[in-house]
Amino acid sequence: MSKDIRRLWLPFLSADVPAKCDTPAKVAEYELKLGCEALGLKMPALRVDAALGEGYEIEGDAIVGGERGLLYGVYAFLMARAAGEEPPTGAQRPFYGLRMLDGWDNADGTIERGYSGRSLWFEGGKLEWDGARIRQLGRLLASVGLNVLCVNNVNVGDTEARLLEDALPDLAKLADAFRPFGVRLMTSIEFARPLAHGVGTADPLDAGVQRWWRERADAVWAAIPDFAGFLVKADSEHRPGPFAYGRSHAEGANMLARAVAPHGGVLVWRAFVYNCKQDWRDTATDRPMAAYQTYAPLDGQFDDNVILQVKNGPFDFQVREPVSPTFYAMPRTRLAVEWQLAQEYTGQQVDIYAMNPMWREMADDLPPEKVYAVAAVTNLGRDDNYTGHPFAAANLYGFGRYAWAPKVSPETVIRRWARLTYHLPAEREDALVRLLMDSRGVYEQYAAQLGIDWMVNPHDHYGPNPGGYEFDVWGTYLRPTRDAVGIDRTSKGTGLTLQFPPEMRERYETPEACPDNLKLFFHRLRYDYVMADGHTLIQRLYDDHFEGCARAEAMADTIAGLGLPEPDRSEAMERIERQIQNAREWRDVVNTFFHRLSGVDDAHGRKIYD
Ligand code: GCU
Repeated sequence: MSKDIRRLWLPFLSADVPAKCDTPAKVAEYELKLGCEALGLKMPALRVDAALGEGYEIEGDAIVGGERGLLYGVYAFLMARAAGEEPPTGAQRPFYGLRMLDGWDNADGTIERGYSGRSLWFEGGKLEWDGARIRQLGRLLASVGLNVLCVNNVNVGDTEARLLEDALPDLAKLADAFRPFGVRLMTSIEFARPLAHGVGTADPLDAGVQRWWRERADAVWAAIPDFAGFLVKADSEHRPGPFAYGRSHAEGANMLARAVAPHGGVLVWRAFVYNCKQDWRDTATDRPMAAYQTYAPLDGQFDDNVILQVKNGPFDFQVREPVSPTFYAMPRTRLAVEWQLAQEYTGQQVDIYAMNPMWREMADDLPPEKVYAVAAVTNLGRDDNYTGHPFAAANLYGFGRYAWAPKVSPETVIRRWARLTYHLPAEREDALVRLLMDSRGVYEQYAAQLGIDWMVNPHDHYGPNPGGYEFDVWGTYLRPTRDAVGIDRTSKGTGLTLQFPPEMRERYETPEACPDNLKLFFHRLRYDYVMADGHTLIQRLYDDHFEGCARAEAMADTIAGLGLPEPDRSEAMERIERQIQNAREWRDVVNTFFHRLSGVDDAHGRKIYD
């Protein structure tokens, strides 16, 4: 194995998985032997019990499981031992059957919203990969129990559409490379693709269109019998969809679902639909209400193998959002929650932002059993450490743990990741765990406090620009004046609160009941509004920016004191310096912006630029 390949949280697995390990059972056996040698352990026996499926049980000196379950059991055993802990007892089963990682990789090797280098599997307009790195990646995904990888961006170009056409043999080879790790492939498809093949329409009710997709699906499953299914972004941000033919999204999704159903495939349909050509003068249209408005009336109309993939919040992967109300409105539809490990709005893998606490919060508002499957946009790329910032690997690791046990304690996950990755002395491990546990709060405090999202630079979404999206078409307005800021989304305003079940509606409906961290998400407030802590809104805006920035500055000392191994130390130090620059920019730009508008001085006389 080339020495570039990093083992992240599996540093004790010192060698490449040989290509001859071509089934999960063989990988399991190989890894167990390698791991036990490295950790000086007596090797447990491996026993197949097909009834356990993806589950496993570690019983005394044996690991029992279905074929994939055995693999998961082996990693669970080795990781527990490497962390100095006891392996889990009793039968272990993944909470979600589909644990999907969505690559936004393009065939030219770029990655939409990618912050860790080029694609690991595309280059020069085609699938192309380094076998050792893909095996390493397979090993990493299997070690945290993820089982589906969607290889291409939801925004599908002509070249990517050919993955299911003349490039299908390459896709089949990539599927072969991931199969031993229990990872099945999926691709994003373009709804209007039949048009490129002379079908003349993409109307889902047209028999020719239906036939075209059936034949495509037949060809795909003939080449890749365990293919997982298709992912679709339709009528969203200029992508084609059923609306062009006067058809509903249930009609569009079901047509495709019927093409893949005979093969046991799933059709994952994204609910990220809103008017992306809004006139900022239009105050009645409210973007976070769009998914519910489109899909809630369709509940009960989707076929069983359709999975409606809903972003966690009603907007778009912002720092702070409530759970999307669509989750409560569709009891007769299979829903997946979509997260974004790629830190598009959350620091772009320069600023630190550990996500497990955010996922755990969702479980409080939305019981995990109300969700059918989980997906996350990956944060992976060709950087040596896969994730740009070495600490961003905690989010990939943590996503797998969350997909198996959505109520798992974030601190337990983060600590386990830290221990496996670095094996620091206890005090320094505590410091790293605290730093990661606090990291979301720090970022939020300087970039999106009180639920005020979208103050980012348009397009690239890094750094402050409070007016950047104000007069644009994206439905992302804060409408700041000299007196007030925010959108009234209550029953007296746009009505978003009415989309929530009663107990949540009550929580969000009045500024007094609404938690501070969502106050400006749901309410338009005057700067002299007095918060529960006695501070005015404007003072809170200033305080949060000064404090958030100071906390980011303090993180540099903590990181410097961790004694991390190289190259992680240098990488983390270089990035925390950039994070501090970013936090200062946020502090000064946002404070100046509101100071200029309101004319209100900081009560503590701190520096606000004019
Ligand atoms: C965001 C992101 C886009 C992406 C879109 C999506 O808007 O900025 O790059 O295509 O989400 O989830 O489809």
